[in-house]
Amino acid sequence: MGSILQKLAPAKINLSLDVLGRRSDGYHQVEMIMQTIDLFDKVSVRRRDDDSFCLYGGNDEAPPEASNLVYKTALLVKQIKGQQSGLDIFLDKKIPVAAGLAGGSSDAAAMMKLLNKLWNLNCSAQEMELLLAKLGSDIPFLVQGGTALATGRGEILQALPAAPAFWVILIKPSFGVSTPKVYQALQAPLWVEQSHTASGAIRGAHTVAMLKALEQGSYSAMIAALGNELEKVTIEWHPQLEEYKQYLLDQGCDQALMSGSGPTIMGFVQQEKKAREIASSIAEKVTSQGCNIFVARSLVKEEEKNWNVD
Ligand code: C5P
Repeated sequence: MGSILQKLAPAKINLSLDVLGRRSDGYHQVEMIMQTIDLFDKVSVRRRDDDSFCLYGGNDEAPPEASNLVYKTALLVKQIKGQQSGLDIFLDKKIPVAAGLAGGSSDAAAMMKLLNKLWNLNCSAQEMELLLAKLGSDIPFLVQGGTALATGRGEILQALPAAPAFWVILIKPSFGVSTPKVYQALQAPLWVEQSHTASGAIRGAHTVAMLKALEQGSYSAMIAALGNELEKVTIEWHPQLEEYKQYLLDQGCDQALMSGSGPTIMGFVQQEKKAREIASSIAEKVTSQGCNIFVARSLVKEEEKNWNVD
């Protein structure tokens, strides 16, 4: 048994999300701007003397051992790299599950980085992203974090300059949603691959607007450009999400939006003090409705090096 290696795994939110069409491989062609925030899970690993993988921790909602993404990551890396020792894996969950915050995906990215170190794999970030894309469309983004444009099914990335710094108040209802069901309910038109590759241009209205706003580097432009095409589906199923958005706006948030396929609702502000004031002013009301509430700030890519806890 060796020493424990630990890594923080940040949540992701969407500043934009556009769906361009349904693909023949069961995925949807998307364009989105992703952003990491400082709400973290913690993943820890330690070598075992035998060759088994044991997963400890998580929470009641996190998927059990064999279907958990950290476990799947270890298994995939072992298969591809032909290694290695057995592992004790410890998962300390703070990011809510099935929330539109990519918690499981981020745990997987953190796990990959831990294995890269523990097993001396010398994988580049690009190699890790390629390997992790096999396990989920959101995972490659979590290798580097910060602000990025994601295309394809979400796995093709282009790092962007940091978005203007902001704070979010997150309201996570007691229920989760199924990402495949949300995509399916959109009934998006069939995606024709060629038309995209020929032009190469970004076409999703929210993402085009957000890219322009980020280029300006202005917080108010970013706020005006926030948009998520999946909102309409999830909010139609759960109309209380519209109420949560209104709570945040009534308390002075500059904008409110759902993240990913939901159901987490985010309220945007520029200052920490305001974020904390708004969170405390609505905490009682939303927790009495079974929601959890979090306050987090945007992260820049360069902060990735601070995610090592050892
Ligand atoms: O990639 P990931 O495993 O996270 O996706 C889960 C499911 O969500 C997919 O099997 C698919 O049904 C849906 N999805 C999609 N289009 C995407 C990403 C996910 O339809 N771009």
